[in-house]
Amino acid sequence: MHEDIKKVLLTKEEIDERVKELGRQITEDYKDKDLVVIVLLKGAAWFATDLTRSIDLPMRVDFMVASSYGNGTATSGNVTVRLDIMEDIRGKDVIVVDDIIDSGVTFAAICNMLRNHKPASLKTCALCDKADRRVNGLDADYVGFKIPDEFVVGFGLDYAGSYRNLPYIGVLKPAVYARTASHG
Ligand code: IMP
Ligand code: MG
Repeated sequence: MHEDIKKVLLTKEEIDERVKELGRQITEDYKDKDLVVIVLLKGAAWFATDLTRSIDLPMRVDFMVASSYGNGTATSGNVTVRLDIMEDIRGKDVIVVDDIIDSGVTFAAICNMLRNHKPASLKTCALCDKADRRVNGLDADYVGFKIPDEFVVGFGLDYAGSYRNLPYIGVLKPAVYARTASHG
């Protein structure tokens, strides 16, 4: 285990198994649809590559870069799009994929923007869900794991850009934020 990790919350095996289940569920739900998966970079990349390979349907994939976090551990509230989608999603059945739903601000903002493109349907999917932190009552349509209100890293999730490559999801030692807090 990495020395900055307090405990492992979800092992690679648990994540792999759950992601396959989600893929099967989406395969069932989108059989007669025209699926486009939109991946929110960077964090959802690790989850989404596994998830899309578990969806046994014709589909398209696109990417978006949105940021609201900076280097802190709580949302800044305003979401900026740094890279927009290139696919035409009008009339398509869209699932937006993120690594985690926390306050819910990111999904709310992204869904508002995507609705302007008039998709036939629009759903959300997050690997992790910190339901206790929600500020807008929004729920993701597909959730891998409900997790407690602790700052987690790994499997795409970062703190100040680091730890994304850990193959598991772990709780970061609070001393790590204290150490880097002065850097903003
Ligand atoms: P929301 O807008 O507050 O729902 O937050 C969603 C975004 O916050 C995610 O895409 C993550 O980048 C980030 N985030 C929220 N909680 C965590 C966490 O525990 N670890 C790492 N990133 C997180
Ligand atoms: Mg992030």
